[in-house]
Amino acid sequence: MAGPTHVTTEGWSSRWAFILAAIGAAVGLGNVWRFPTLAGENGGGAFVLFYIGCVVLIGLPLILSEIIIGRAGRSDAVGSVRNVAEQSGVSRGWTTFGWMEIISAFLILSFYSVVAGWVIYYAGVMGGDFFGNLFSGAPFAGALQGEEAEAIQGRMTSLFGNIPLLLAMHTVFMGVTYAIVARGVHDGIEKAALYLMPAFFVLLIAITIYGAFVGNFGQAVAFMFTPDFSKLDAPAMNAALGQALFSMSLGSAALITYGAYVSKDTKLPPTAAMIAVADTGVAIIAGLMIFPIVFAVGLDPAAGPTLVFQSLPVAFQQMPGGSLIGFLFFVLIFFAALTSSISLLEGPVSWGINELGWSRFKSATIFSLAIFIVGIACLLSLNVWSDVRLLPFWSIFAESSIFDVIDGFTGKVMLPVAAFLTAIFIGWRADKKLVAAETGLEGGLFALWRFLVAWLAPIGVAVILVFGLFPGLL
Ligand code: PHE
Repeated sequence: MAGPTHVTTEGWSSRWAFILAAIGAAVGLGNVWRFPTLAGENGGGAFVLFYIGCVVLIGLPLILSEIIIGRAGRSDAVGSVRNVAEQSGVSRGWTTFGWMEIISAFLILSFYSVVAGWVIYYAGVMGGDFFGNLFSGAPFAGALQGEEAEAIQGRMTSLFGNIPLLLAMHTVFMGVTYAIVARGVHDGIEKAALYLMPAFFVLLIAITIYGAFVGNFGQAVAFMFTPDFSKLDAPAMNAALGQALFSMSLGSAALITYGAYVSKDTKLPPTAAMIAVADTGVAIIAGLMIFPIVFAVGLDPAAGPTLVFQSLPVAFQQMPGGSLIGFLFFVLIFFAALTSSISLLEGPVSWGINELGWSRFKSATIFSLAIFIVGIACLLSLNVWSDVRLLPFWSIFAESSIFDVIDGFTGKVMLPVAAFLTAIFIGWRADKKLVAAETGLEGGLFALWRFLVAWLAPIGVAVILVFGLFPGLL
């Protein structure tokens, strides 16, 4: 039995450093932008319920599986899978899903950075507005006073048409992400999480309490928790599963890579549970932060991806203190996005370091640039390339722009396929003793976890995937 090769030399300085970084990876645009968007588009309650089912039955067992692969393999997503496969005496072919995960991370970050760029723009607009109000002695004014609602909404359209501005924001965001990852696990990734995550939680709770007082909390709760199962068709289920995987950073190298930096004496099951609970909690709280404000001013919860950017600023105009809250709201999203983008970049970067023998600086530079360039294609597909179709022959993507194809294909296809393969690998192929020792679980709990990983997760993912991608089959 060969020992692990190409192992990492880096590590977290404590268990809490890992937990914060992993929660930072999980909590991101997925929670505060994508989840409310999808819940709104798919009718609310039933989607939320199905989503929670995916988290508990599929996501949580897989979080533990991915961290185990990382810690046992002690390398990047490809190297860790290879090491575990070798220690288990099974084919190196399993590294296929490690590759897929790194490619997914690469692709996701390319559009993620563009969206985070919009966040920076709005944080700037709202921040400018707030400080203007502050200096004119009206710190608690509503946001963007005197601007017509249409003009506020029109800002997003103008932003999408403004290539230099989009490019500048995308550059800033990738630049900050790069600067942090280049500093390494201890000085970069961990430090960022240590400052950004507590700040994020404080802002989240503060704005939610604000929304509960000033907005229409009752209607938001009813919307999010009253299930109407007629709205839960196969594509909605596929979207919920893809969102659960995306939100928990599954299938995209992050957790395997972060797992490799975890010390042997850290107990993994409670850590995995904390990640799942924090991530799902934040998604739901984000819904309870956003929808009361949306309903209070009679906006449409099903507005889609523009909900947060186009609808909310209109709401902030009409609310007391809206200028300040609007500013804090976008700062909050920025913090969340940054700790996630760091984890997205770290997957490919650690591959360059461990497998190609590059320095961290070189790997971070090359991957940041490459991802930045693909991001430009996503960015251009918002305007001059909006008619370009990458997958015209595939019905569910036929009408999708480059941006939408990369977002949709990673979320709906690549992440579920990687999740499926992870489950089969850990549930069936990896050495049982090694797996059991890594989990530290015993007796009934181990049996339950194994059942979920070996049976429920793969079958659930496969069924949802097939019917979601080929709705005609139903
Ligand atoms: N989980 C992050 C979010 O919800 C996105 C992400 C996906 C991060 C995959 C890392 C890996 O925004």
